Amino acid sequence: MQATGFTRRDRRGFFRVALTLAAITGFGSAALAQGEVNIYSYRQPPLIDPLLKAFTAKTGIKTNVVFAAAGLNERLAAEGKNSPADLLFTVDAGRLSEAKEAGLTEPVVLETLTKAIPAPYRDPGNHWFGLTMRSRIVYASKERVKQDSITYEELADPKWKGKICIRSGQHVYNTSLIATMIAHKGEAFTETWLKGLRDNLAHKPAGGDREQARDIHSGKCDLAIGNTYYMALMATNEKNPEQKEWGKAIKPLFPNANDRGSHVNISGMALAKYAPNKANALKLMEFLASDDAQKIYATANNEYPVSPHIPPSEIVQSWGKLKADPLPLENIAKYRKRASELVDKVNFDAGPST
Ligand SMILES: [Fe+2]
Repeated sequence: MQATGFTRRDRRGFFRVALTLAAITGFGSAALAQGEVNIYSYRQPPLIDPLLKAFTAKTGIKTNVVFAAAGLNERLAAEGKNSPADLLFTVDAGRLSEAKEAGLTEPVVLETLTKAIPAPYRDPGNHWFGLTMRSRIVYASKERVKQDSITYEELADPKWKGKICIRSGQHVYNTSLIATMIAHKGEAFTETWLKGLRDNLAHKPAGGDREQARDIHSGKCDLAIGNTYYMALMATNEKNPEQKEWGKAIKPLFPNANDRGSHVNISGMALAKYAPNKANALKLMEFLASDDAQKIYATANNEYPVSPHIPPSEIVQSWGKLKADPLPLENIAKYRKRASELVDKVNFDAGPST
């Protein structure tokens, strides 16, 4: 009596994938708890559903997902020992570190994880693990930008005055990038750099990463900063085909490819401190780090698998080679608050001052 693939939100807000009719009646009962794993996810359900279905097909363990764009760390903290959550999925190393620092996570020492996931992309204390990587790169107008390489530092060069577009400086993607600049070059340099970048903006920061490509397409700017996977989302967007045109207007430039490498961030996972289904959670963690799951990530999401053995998708390979900045991601957590303060200090989101 299985309604495979049926997704439903239960009274605690869990989305059930591959729900059984028996499960509708008894979330949390001891018998069912043996066959489940509960996930709090900042990642949108469509991005993780293919992986969770593959996990359930392989192990018989059901997965329940609470998705929220914000506030899951706070929810975990408020629930404390009574939390039903086993795992936390996020899209930023900073959030994983925050969860660790708030005492919400439990270390996991498993050789399968440390072997599969390179050291820069996991917590040295084993509290969190990266699963996929994305790089924050420069989108450049194919038509108007002749050069084929760039550095983050160069974005502050007055030669780009009025030519750069970007989303809010306070967005986590940008504060993470700025945090790596502080780690590499120090705070004074980063402040001057941020002011230079602000004064090169075509207009006030607004929209998401794809809107910056839109503005290159319409000629409002020549350069923008955006994450790699949005190029795939635009190129393959049947629902909003105008985005295909935005994508066609840009070429990817991987910043600092000739020196330290381009900034990368991760999506990742952590075991909740009071996970009621710990054994199942560990099985899911091992599955997500496996070659099988890494292949699904690569094809479904057009992110870079963290496993060096699994090649990225064809579309990702078509952008050229990524040389990732090897700076350990714990630095992002270390400097992100300062990065956010600098964004405010230079009034970045107000746009150019001159
Ligand atoms: Fe995103």
